[in-house]
Amino acid sequence: MSVRLIQFSDIHVGSPYSFRYQPAWSENFFNAMEQVKEFDVQPEVIVITGDLTRDGETHPFELRQIKEILEKYPYQFYCIPGNHDSGGRYDISSHARVSSTKIERFRKVFGDDKFQASVGNCRIIGFNSFILGSGLPEEPELWAWLEEKAKEKNDQWSRQIWFMHNLAYNKHPFENEIITKEENRKLWYHLLELKAQHRLMQLISNNDIDIIANGHTHNYIDRTVDGIHHVTCPSTAFHPALPATSPLGYMIYDIDDDGIKVELKQLSNISEKPGYGIGGNILYDERDYSLAQKVSPETTIEIKAQLS
Ligand SMILES: [Fe+2]
Ligand SMILES: [Fe+2]
Repeated sequence: MSVRLIQFSDIHVGSPYSFRYQPAWSENFFNAMEQVKEFDVQPEVIVITGDLTRDGETHPFELRQIKEILEKYPYQFYCIPGNHDSGGRYDISSHARVSSTKIERFRKVFGDDKFQASVGNCRIIGFNSFILGSGLPEEPELWAWLEEKAKEKNDQWSRQIWFMHNLAYNKHPFENEIITKEENRKLWYHLLELKAQHRLMQLISNNDIDIIANGHTHNYIDRTVDGIHHVTCPSTAFHPALPATSPLGYMIYDIDDDGIKVELKQLSNISEKPGYGIGGNILYDERDYSLAQKVSPETTIEIKAQLS
């Protein structure tokens, strides 16, 4: 008897109170959830591997909004943050970088930025990978937690999947090529700092973790390199650049005693609703909030507090 887990990533549900908003991205996630509701085999849990919001790292109201949206579905969700929710390593300016304040804000809304749970005979672990290599006070705490979790053994867990937001590796888990943002900004933006990548991959490899799964690149990958099975879940929201190298969709994991069957599910319905505002990492003083479709005193106060 198998149990089903679904992984979404980079759903980027935005808000009309923002300086930019693409309702099509939000609608794609809602459509995907309708698709899930129709499955004969229902998921026991749904994991969302970050970028839950469009600009939640500066808009706490976007974090609260997606939390409330998820609570309306009859499913058990486990969520970890992406760079759009609590900041990333992209530090052309400090506005987009992970920080203790942003981590705390995410934890306040979601309870934590990591999780452990069981799905049938499978243990699942999720964590905020932007902390790794950040040098923040949260980093040694997270390494200690991951190392402790890796050591824990339980007869009930014959399978394990670990989830994070960053791309697990470029070509090989233990590659030595240092990618700099000057040489290849896109790849640098997706990866972990190399030392942190090696330490994490060693942990995955030493402890027979069946799959390390992530999001962030918005492009689907399913590969096994150096004995590590790696899955990148695509986005339901949008392609990062044209031409698309992967469909919009999400991942299905059917887990039983024989193993884990991994399947990409494409969206059956893609929204074309028009939106407004510009993409990319936009500096605070370049954000035009006069474009917002909705304004409220509460969101205005929150936005001003973040931008000051
Ligand atoms: Fe994303
Ligand atoms: Fe991301």
